[in-house]
Amino acid sequence: MLNSLRTQVGIIGAGPAGLVLSHLLYLHGIDSVVVENRSRQYVEERVRAGVLEQGTADLLVEMGVGERMKREGLLHSGIELRFGGRGHRIDFQDLTGGKGITIYAQHEVLKDLNNARAATGGQVYFEVEDVSVHDIDRPRPKVRYRKDGNSHELDCDFIAGCDGFHGICRPSIPSAVLTEYERVYPFGWLGILAEAPPSSHELIYTYHDRGFALLSMRTPRISRLYLQCKPDEDIAQWSDQKIWQELQLRLAADGWKLTEGLVLQKGVTGMRSFVVEPMQYGRLFLAGDSAHIVPPTGAKGLNLAVADVQILARSLKRFYDTGRRDLLDSYSEVCLRRVWKVQRFSWWMTSMLHRFPDENSFDQRRQLAELDYVTGSRAAATTLAENYVGLPME
Ligand code: FAD
Ligand code: DHB
Repeated sequence: MLNSLRTQVGIIGAGPAGLVLSHLLYLHGIDSVVVENRSRQYVEERVRAGVLEQGTADLLVEMGVGERMKREGLLHSGIELRFGGRGHRIDFQDLTGGKGITIYAQHEVLKDLNNARAATGGQVYFEVEDVSVHDIDRPRPKVRYRKDGNSHELDCDFIAGCDGFHGICRPSIPSAVLTEYERVYPFGWLGILAEAPPSSHELIYTYHDRGFALLSMRTPRISRLYLQCKPDEDIAQWSDQKIWQELQLRLAADGWKLTEGLVLQKGVTGMRSFVVEPMQYGRLFLAGDSAHIVPPTGAKGLNLAVADVQILARSLKRFYDTGRRDLLDSYSEVCLRRVWKVQRFSWWMTSMLHRFPDENSFDQRRQLAELDYVTGSRAAATTLAENYVGLPME
């Protein structure tokens, strides 16, 4: 038997894009249903990003889901760039007129959003199977899925593809309509979560002969650390002791000590830049990782997903308030202007801070000159700072 359900906006995926969109639409008085193929517990425990731009944190507060973030999140007003064994601070507050970032884990944001959706009668269905989209170029597109052995059909005005890089929405658009832009990097990141008080108040991005390293954190007791590694690195070859040894070597600086602790979780992530154009087809709108991927060096993935759905939510609001489609029609164009600037920044941070297998001594000298310039020139430091804390919304 086929169960039919009606909603204004069908949302596929309960990651940051899908859940922020669903709650924004609720605040605008627009009905939505979210379908997610993983369990709520899985989504709320998956360790991913941790840096919120000023605008992302402000939006969560405006949406009424920022209370716990304000209590537990860590406000940072700068980062350190470390090279040649010396640290150089980029002072965001000074360079951007008072802006900063908030350290608060992505899965904590998702917990807060799930709680808010549940408290306001939001329809978020987890552990659904065989999700597919139909009639996306017609006035009433459909989402079909199975849950608990039953088949369901969601009859929608619009569909939001918030189902990440490996989702089904992007491949549902005729390939002749899409152009893909991609760069795959010849390295990855080995990341650990450790029960160790962070050895610095702020994040440290390090350029080192042995490769890039990053010190980040989640709470005053939990550190998050990353090492540049091979793209296909076998995590089984990395004992906890070997990881700490390598981190000690790459992060070393005079008079500074990295505090070690119990490794709670470890994994390897590949690095790519990817954009699909356009980000819409008919009544299907792609948002977040389903439309673009950035290498993690600029801490932009989650923030870009949130920026997309802000643009989508206001476009849908205009349509339902006035019947005007102008903002919906320009959705992709408006998003892509930001997407490409964020791609540029993420590529630039990645290129400046990593060792490349095919580089020569000229490239290394150029990277060091770039770091010297960025940390020595107020103009250069300002371009890093304004991108890192987040470009203004158009
Ligand atoms: P996602 O968070 O991927 O959400 C998509 C959701 O859709 C998922 O819950 C998925 O289960 C669901 N889904 C997929 N297919 C289907 C389907 N067919 N039907 C129903 N649901 C479906 N960014 C940083 O800035 N810093 C980091 O350190 C960092 N680390 C990362 C580590 C990993 C392993 C990964 C994969 C990403 C990381 N990112 C990081 C990127 C950041 O987490 C993403 O950019 C962000 O999650 C994008 O949000 P999203 O909602 O677009 O996609
Ligand atoms: C973290 C991840 C990033 O990609 C980054 O650039 C900074 C911090 C993190 O997980 O804390």
